[in-house]
Amino acid sequence: MTHACIAGTGSYLPEKILTNADLERMVQTSDQWIQERTGIRGRHIAGDNETTSDMAVIAARSAMQAAKVGSNDIDLVVLATTTPDKIFPSTACLVQARLDIHGCAAFDIQAACSGFIYALGTANNFIRSGAAQCALVIGAEVMSRIIDWTDRGTCILFGDGAGAVVLKASDKPGIYSTHMHADGAYEELLHVSPSIARHSEALGRDPFIKMQGSEVFKMAVQTLGRIVDETLEHSNRAKSDIDWLVPHQANTRIISATAKKLEISMDNVVLTVGEHGNTSAASIPLAFDVAVRDGRIKEGQIVLMEAFGGGFTWGSALLKM
Ligand code: UT7
Repeated sequence: MTHACIAGTGSYLPEKILTNADLERMVQTSDQWIQERTGIRGRHIAGDNETTSDMAVIAARSAMQAAKVGSNDIDLVVLATTTPDKIFPSTACLVQARLDIHGCAAFDIQAACSGFIYALGTANNFIRSGAAQCALVIGAEVMSRIIDWTDRGTCILFGDGAGAVVLKASDKPGIYSTHMHADGAYEELLHVSPSIARHSEALGRDPFIKMQGSEVFKMAVQTLGRIVDETLEHSNRAKSDIDWLVPHQANTRIISATAKKLEISMDNVVLTVGEHGNTSAASIPLAFDVAVRDGRIKEGQIVLMEAFGGGFTWGSALLKM
């Protein structure tokens, strides 16, 4: 049986940092409220001309370098984003071209904050079925472009960035399992409304994130508790088997609730929401890369990734490094 293994990781954060003090000057909020309610201290914001593909290319190059693979080795590009450069071509195609990769399948996945889990799960299935040998899996977002900077309920939360992994076929795991779910019934709780289904002029109208924060919060905590059980049961593993939790970085309070459910110490949770904010599909690969590069996540250890986001979508991945 072929498995998919993590061969390398990479990430990129834009230079500009927007602090809570900066936000205090923009909306009626306080550093204290933001830190207490979310754990966020700062977030990176893309430059005016910086796009999702620009950030994705840098993160991908870094992951390819870590995996010691070249453009000719990559035979699949899967990119998760909610903020593509264009409606089409996909951002995955734009990144593929800039990395001088030609001919292999390249496509975007849109599952909001769960996007990276969906992308990893998809690439894992390509590799397990023999349809790919070496996949580039990227999560990249410019959330700052879909933020209403006058809405204190959302503008304090999000940031920009990109993360990437290279997945390679191997005869040992690797990824044990991935789990993907969605329920479109909750559209109104978290969405960005411009429509191309009806009138083209609606595209430019109010293109901002709308969120009923506390409702999303409650659903996230409940759902992530369930996905943790599902993942452990599926692979017949105990909570104590998990070395690291690498969660989607939306809110420290949501992450601590999942850690409590897993009976895992916060010392074994990779927490980057304080410095990165919520970077949607980029948040897990960004956090993962940070902990791989600083030496916390080591070869042979077991990592659980989980995410919840707009859709609603949610999912998890259990893997051995
Ligand atoms: O990543 C995908 C999914 N997204 C999430 O997981 C986000 C989930 N939601 C959350 O993280 C939290 O709900 C928020 C951080 C967005 C909000 O925290 P909360 O504890 O749920 O606050 P709330 O929305 O219930 O609001 C509590 C109070 C309200 O004032 P009143 O009505 O009690 O007077 C808000 O108006 O806090 C007020 N408030 C703020 N105050 C200062 C809301 N935003 C702010 C703010 N600064 N930025």
